[in-house]
This record gives sequence, structure tokens and C-alpha cells, in this order.
Amino acid sequence: MTNTDFPILDTQVYNHRLVYLDNAATTQKPREVIETLTNYYLTLNSNIHRGAHYLAAQATERYEEVRRKVQQFINAASSSEIVFTRGTTESINLVASSFGQAFLHSGDEVIVSGMEHHSNIVPWQLAAQRAGATLRVIPFSDQGVLDLDAYRALFSSRTRIVACTHVSNTLGTVNPVAEIVAVAHDHGVPVLIDGAQAVAHMPVDVQHLGCDFYCFSGHKMYAPMGVGVMYGREELLSQLPPYQGGGEMIKDVTFERTTYNDLPFRFEAGTPSVGDVLGLGAAIDFMQRQGIDNIGRHEEQLLRYATDRLSALPGIRLFGTAPHKAGVISFLLGDAHPYDVGTLLDKLGVAVRTGHHCTQPIMDRYGIPGTVRASLACYTTRDDIDALVDALGRIAPMLM
Ligand code: ALA
Repeated sequence: MTNTDFPILDTQVYNHRLVYLDNAATTQKPREVIETLTNYYLTLNSNIHRGAHYLAAQATERYEEVRRKVQQFINAASSSEIVFTRGTTESINLVASSFGQAFLHSGDEVIVSGMEHHSNIVPWQLAAQRAGATLRVIPFSDQGVLDLDAYRALFSSRTRIVACTHVSNTLGTVNPVAEIVAVAHDHGVPVLIDGAQAVAHMPVDVQHLGCDFYCFSGHKMYAPMGVGVMYGREELLSQLPPYQGGGEMIKDVTFERTTYNDLPFRFEAGTPSVGDVLGLGAAIDFMQRQGIDNIGRHEEQLLRYATDRLSALPGIRLFGTAPHKAGVISFLLGDAHPYDVGTLLDKLGVAVRTGHHCTQPIMDRYGIPGTVRASLACYTTRDDIDALVDALGRIAPMLM
């Protein structure tokens, strides 16, 4: 892989080489993904599943082909278990809403971890409020490791579902999700895993993990924005009521009643983002050609290198030092506000995210307003890490 695969990486920012370290927010897109999207609109654009014409048939075939590709990518048992959404947030909202409607009642409990993104907290709060249920929270250590003993102690006869992230977008912790699932299943409780920060960095096998739902976004794995996936184990998915009503999710409609379509179409109301789905297929091809294990190893080495170099800087505090981490490094520089650090880094061409990263409970846990976050992808290099460290060295005297 070279920079020619990612033309945007040649951008100059304020006369500096762009050093893109905001991959946990969104990855850049390889040329083949951009071309797939462009070619779709140049040669194939049409609505799927309904048109009686050549383009509609071709587009439908390509769309369904990507569904099978996603099935293989995460090793789902059937392509009926793959629902296309707009992204992780929509996937989780779908499950929380439909599962909540079917299974949550007054007095019930939902377990979430203390390191969830807001998008894996708020949909459950909404569902819990509707049902009269409550949220119970798995605490984590200063290092950013979930307390599994505390987790086990949270279960009661009223626990209905567990929702937990695979990888923390703020701390980088890779959670032991197979174990988390096994504990829940011992209690007969299903588990949703937020895989948004995992799928681009490690192989994911939903059958091996044993989870009941697995949600992720395309745009964090080299695909276009506007497409995501909700994997649901068929036995459970088939028991959930529809999330949105509209076209494609029905078999028959009268003013008296509607019968719903089979899985997965029951959960895909309205015209989907077909071009983006095809782009997701191209992104999976791209990642599989690189080798997901190779990407993971590359990022792991860089994470170690970055952690060592950053730790050696005076005044740096790292947040998230779990033994098992993915390529996310959150830090503060002295008492400087993260926003000031991010703004000065930007002027030197280094793109990071600052703030609470949509994880305010994590910030409350550490008693800080936010962090500066550098996050890695397959195209990140040692030069990028060196540029970050050099830039921090340059701006530190202005801030400390
Ligand atoms: N959830 C994305 C992030 O962590 C946007 O930056």
C-alpha cells in the first residue's frame, strides 16, 4: 500500500504535510472505494429490489453480493443476519428500540459498560425510559480495564440485555467480549457488541464471540460515510418487531394491517444508500488484500512506538493504559486545555480529535474535561508518530 492508494494523504495543511491521526473518527478512503462509489453513479445508479429493468437488477445483485461479503467478513451464519443501516448509531438505535419494545418491561435492567460511546448509552436510556427499566454500569480501573467481578455481580433476575463496546474509542481498551458474552449467556441474557472501533483493526468472528448483535460503521473501516451494519443472530432477530416502517420491509399492506417482510429486509425500510454499500464491499476487499492480521500487527507496533515516545515527553499524561489496546492514544499535555493542544497541532499539519469524544462518563471517571486523541490506521507511519511528538515538543513551551 502506498499514498497513491489514499490521494488525500498528499494534502498540504498550512504548508505542512498532512499527518492524519483522527482515524477513530473516520478513516480516509482508498482510491478503489472512491472509484466504486463514482462508478456506481456513473454506470449503475437505480433503485434496488423493485425496478423491472437492467440497471435495477444489476444494482440489486451487487448490493446483495456485498451482504454476503459482510457475512463472510464477520463470519455470520447467514446473510439474513446482516442488516444495512446508516452506521453504528443507527444499528444500536434499531436494536435498543426493537428489543426494548419486545422484551423490556418496568423494573427490568440493562447492563452497559462505563466506557461506552454515547451512542451505546443514550439509545438504551431511551428504551429504558419507555419501559420503566434502569441501566446498570460496569466500572473500569484507572488503566481502563473493565472490572469483570463487578460485571458478574450486576446480574439479577431482571437483567434483559448487556451492551458493551469491543474497543473503547477513547481509551483504546480491547474488551474481553467473548468472556463478557459467556457470562451473560450463563444468565440467559443476550449481548450487543459495539464494534465500531474494532472491525478495521482486528479479525471479528461473531460466531466465535457468541454475541447476539454486533454493530459497526463503514466509514471507520475505509468505506464511505452513510453505511453501517447491524448483525443480529437470526433466532433473536426474528423475534424483534420492525424499527421503521416503509417500503421494502413489508409483504402486504392494507389499511387494516401489514405483514412484514422476511429477514433482513424487514429492517431495511426505504431506499438504502446503495452506492455506499457497494463502497463498503470495496473497502472489505481492500482490507482483505492488506490482510486484517497484518493491519492489526502494524498498528500494534506503532501503538507501542507512539506510547513509548509520548510517555517520554515532559508533562504528558496518558489515559487508557490497558494491557490489551488498539491504536488509540488519549493524553493531556500539562494543564493545557485539549482544544488548545489540538488547535496548535493542526497549525503544524497534525490532525487529532480533542474533547470528550462522545464519552462524557469516561471524562467524569477521570475528572477531566477531555483529552487529545491520536488514532491509527493501516497507512499510519512512524514518520506520522514522529511528527506528532515533534509538534508536541514545539508547542509545549507555549502551553506549559
Ligand atoms: N465516534 C467517533 C469518534 O470516536 C466519531 O471520534
